[in-house]
Amino acid sequence: MNEQHLEPLKRHPEGRALRAEVDLRRVARNFARVREAAGGRGIWGVVKANAYGHGAVPVGRALSEAGAAGLAVSSLEEGLELRQGGVACPILVLGGLRPEAVPAASAEGLTIALVGPEHLADYARLLPDHPLKLHLKLDTGMGRFGFLPSELGECLPALGALAPWIDGAMGHFATADDPDQGFALRQRRVFEACLAQLRDAGIHPAQRHHGNSDACLRGLLGDDTHVRPGLALYGLTLVPEGRALGLEPALELVAEVARVKAVPAGTTVGYGRTFVAPHPLQIATLACGYADGYRRDLGNRAVVGYRGRTYPVVGRVSMDYLTVALPVDVPVAPGDPMVLFGSDPAAPHCLERLASALGTIPYELTCGLHRRITRRFFS
Ligand SMILES: Cc1ncc(COP(=O)(O)O)c(C=O)c1O
Repeated sequence: MNEQHLEPLKRHPEGRALRAEVDLRRVARNFARVREAAGGRGIWGVVKANAYGHGAVPVGRALSEAGAAGLAVSSLEEGLELRQGGVACPILVLGGLRPEAVPAASAEGLTIALVGPEHLADYARLLPDHPLKLHLKLDTGMGRFGFLPSELGECLPALGALAPWIDGAMGHFATADDPDQGFALRQRRVFEACLAQLRDAGIHPAQRHHGNSDACLRGLLGDDTHVRPGLALYGLTLVPEGRALGLEPALELVAEVARVKAVPAGTTVGYGRTFVAPHPLQIATLACGYADGYRRDLGNRAVVGYRGRTYPVVGRVSMDYLTVALPVDVPVAPGDPMVLFGSDPAAPHCLERLASALGTIPYELTCGLHRRITRRFFS
């Protein structure tokens, strides 16, 4: 079977009818706020999934310039994308690495999370010739990657052989956003116990990090040296502490009006005829649909921002288009920009509110923004 690698679709510079506008100045200010909330600890800025849809290379550069200790990604490919984009700071691959990929990761100076006991012998064989830094992932209660406390003891001799390369130890909270901190505190105790076990075996990771954004905002950091925030750097948050900190959403999704038409009462709009104009209206069609990451179930539920007001998205969202209803006396013309995801956290079309209306989290909406959308960066 032939494997084919296709370049992502490139938009023509003049074809920018749909764009994600990313304010890197806001990212830098959010970084400073999170660093303060984290007591000045070192920050691994999490830029996996194309920086949560914001654009990995420009965001990665901005975070590095703002003073991040490093950037965290999920896979080798995401790490290589940053390197190819000229990002020179430390890059931590959170999802681990198969032994076959160690030479490539070593050549690019990537740091790798060691996510379980399965490849310890391979790593011990490969690292003398292909050195790289390792961060030992401990499963303190998340239940996916990491050494379980129950298996750590038997792995200590093999880990001892890797000690020269072990630069960090890490865990990940499952419930840092939960007002009940019981389980998070239990995870922290498990982390401390694992670190003590490592110390007794002569393994002293220079870096310790267990905290995501919410852990930074809620003071769950113990005596960690570093933190790994993602969401808060983009100015998004699900906890009241995040808004109190003044986080500023960095992304706006903007679509230009493709067509406007005046329709009489009784006109139905879109697939399934789920919207019927109750009186004469203008229907603006925008070139953004569920293929771009604007969710189909936002039809007849969401609003868009236009000249300081909001107007409803009516009818079903289709693959490449959505439709907005405006009163007949509102001046609107092809080319006018409308805001689909707003950056004012109090607006009805801000990411947190749209996500909550859909029963999901803002992460899913930004990560879902397709690469065919033009990203425009402000710095
Ligand atoms: C291992 C790991 N660390 C840190 C983060 C960042 O989390 P958040 O975006 O909630 O700050 C994630 C996000 O999914 C993660 O998987």
